[in-house]
Amino acid sequence: MKTEKKESFIGKPIDRVDGRLKVTGQAKYAADYPAVDSGDPAPADVAFAALIQSTVSRGKIKNIDSSEAEKMPGVIKIISYKNAPKIPAKPVEDFDDSLHLLQDNTIHHDRQNIGIVVADTFEQAVLAASRVKVDYEYAGAAVDMDAGLSKAKYPGGKKNAIRSRGDFQSALNSASLKVDQTYITPAEIHSMMEPHATTAFWKNGSLHVWESTQAIFNTRNKLAKAFGLSNDKVTVVTKFIGGGFGTKLNAWSNTLLAVLAAKESGRPVKLAISRANTFGNTGNRPRTVQRVILAADKNGKLTGINHECVSETSRFAEFTEDGSDISARLYSCPNVIASLKVVPLDIGKPTWMRAPGECPGIYALECAMDELAYAAKIDPIKLRMINYAEKDEHQNLPWSSKSLKECYEQGALKFGWQKRSPQPGSMKRGDRLVGWGMSTASHPFYRMKSAAKLNLSPNGTATIVCGTQDIGTGTYTIMTQIAADLLALPLSKVSFDLGDTSMPEAPLSGGSMTAASAGSAVHDVCVSAIEKLIALAIADKQSPLFGLKAGDIQVLDGGLYLKAKPGTGESYESILKRSGPLHVTASSSPAEKSDKYSKHSFGAHFAEVEVDSDLGTIRITRFVSAIGAGKILNPKTAANQIKGGVIFGIGMALTEELVRDHRSGRIINADLAEYHIPVHADIPELDVIFVEERDSIINPMGVKGVGEIAVIGVAAAVANAVFHATGKRVRDLPITLDKIL
Ligand code: MOS
Repeated sequence: MKTEKKESFIGKPIDRVDGRLKVTGQAKYAADYPAVDSGDPAPADVAFAALIQSTVSRGKIKNIDSSEAEKMPGVIKIISYKNAPKIPAKPVEDFDDSLHLLQDNTIHHDRQNIGIVVADTFEQAVLAASRVKVDYEYAGAAVDMDAGLSKAKYPGGKKNAIRSRGDFQSALNSASLKVDQTYITPAEIHSMMEPHATTAFWKNGSLHVWESTQAIFNTRNKLAKAFGLSNDKVTVVTKFIGGGFGTKLNAWSNTLLAVLAAKESGRPVKLAISRANTFGNTGNRPRTVQRVILAADKNGKLTGINHECVSETSRFAEFTEDGSDISARLYSCPNVIASLKVVPLDIGKPTWMRAPGECPGIYALECAMDELAYAAKIDPIKLRMINYAEKDEHQNLPWSSKSLKECYEQGALKFGWQKRSPQPGSMKRGDRLVGWGMSTASHPFYRMKSAAKLNLSPNGTATIVCGTQDIGTGTYTIMTQIAADLLALPLSKVSFDLGDTSMPEAPLSGGSMTAASAGSAVHDVCVSAIEKLIALAIADKQSPLFGLKAGDIQVLDGGLYLKAKPGTGESYESILKRSGPLHVTASSSPAEKSDKYSKHSFGAHFAEVEVDSDLGTIRITRFVSAIGAGKILNPKTAANQIKGGVIFGIGMALTEELVRDHRSGRIINADLAEYHIPVHADIPELDVIFVEERDSIINPMGVKGVGEIAVIGVAAAVANAVFHATGKRVRDLPITLDKIL
């Protein structure tokens, strides 16, 4: 149905509708509940919990002595393997990644959760946790991935994990140009502003949890399973979260332990884990070692790609970082091998982190492409155009839409790429070396089934609810825009709420899928509401639209009016004053026809670096990103996502690395003083271009999502710029000054 109206909100840079709540401190996060005098459904006697984490990286707990801690003021309960109740559902399969529920005395990795202390105050809990004495039997831990590389195995116990087409070896044998290099990305940790937090209480056998999560329904299902409850006995609420970047897609053991502690202590329990705690049991991006072999003819046309991505994983539960998938489709090439291996180590289970797979994978591929460009003496963008994939050759499917050419063109124009002199070290500013580098970006499009509910009241206001999450991306804002747009109402008459499992179910907020998934449900529920309103009006003798054809009626300015004669019609208020409020629920799923397409967003990043050749210090001085991600619902919140992703990528390129001591197996930089994320002073003004793109395949609005495409390729653009500046090809991130000198 076509809706027309005076003002359109979709595509406008609307300020965040929740901005005021956030800057005035009224936005409530998981650890802010229950708020004083708020009527929140929790008694006032909330207790506080603190985790005890192991200080050895592998072995057994010989004994835990909590006798001193138990006598400390305010201490209510200390739970360890010695007294923890059996978790009703055995922690297997979907629980194996959140092991460490105090069910035995085994230590699998450094900083494993081995106990939880509940006390009247936060300070009492933390102090008591520090006084619990633990005797370990250290069994020696293997955490050195390089030492285990020769024993890398295919994931899932498979005999092979190879995506291939054509005959790579023949292509390599007959190639005029070859690149064969190994690229390393370090283990990284999400470092979101708000560490994981849970406030949990039990009442009459039901469980209520305020949780900082990207996935309220997954959290609910997991808690229900673990504690032997039906799903309807568990409510999970997340109104605001201070970032997640993938680590909050899963309810880890801290969440389950908070719930367990509430059960055991008979008190509502709040567990806001510390920054240091996040380095233990809540996952991180695994280190990867990636060998990329490119074969090409003398004109730079790719004839073969062999990309093997080896990632570290935990010994007790496997996680695979799929860095090579993208190499099977990003460029046109007849002979491809894209494989994966894992090296099991005595480390915590790695997890998804912003653009898992593609982020490290494209770094390796796009650095190799830069090396090929130099080998072929071809401009890096030209090389990519020579190898442009007009379809997804891995799936042999057309793209639902692709505007990568436009991304290259518009990004290059904005950056001034044509002024680049290709010779490394040939560009200078004062006594600094200047380097320009670029990279392609691509991220798969995801969309999952989502539902939403709309209530249109006789006073003319609309309330939409959907059990999705706003992980800082602007969900509240864009959903309000979609609804206001379709209903032709001002933003002030639309309210949107989310983040509660008593609402219609929406998928996790990951894979950049929220705008497309929950957004389509909000779109569909509004379309359905208008159809119902029209049906009401034309069937009602009191309506000026009585007896008219639905197709002749349009939505305009908060009401229904004849297309040909906009003076004839009536407002929603007028219809609903006769009929009563309108309640509509809609469920929205991907269309089947979309399976016949390969669906990706694309982009191009351009980096300028200045390198001090005496000190080896690198500064990012300019950065341009051109992104083709379908319809951009709100260029302000979307640009905010891209900028955040670019900063994330600059951290990956230059500063971030989770370091383990290979002798003790312990993490040695488990805080933000030693694990370096970029700060304002590290980041220049970032330019973001959204390339106009229409996609009628993916969903009704043509929205692809922007959370992850932003970070992909950033590290390659920076690394390629550093090479251009210095002539030094650093193939292991982060590019710290010692690697430049
Ligand atoms: Mo993302 S790693 O899908 O939150």
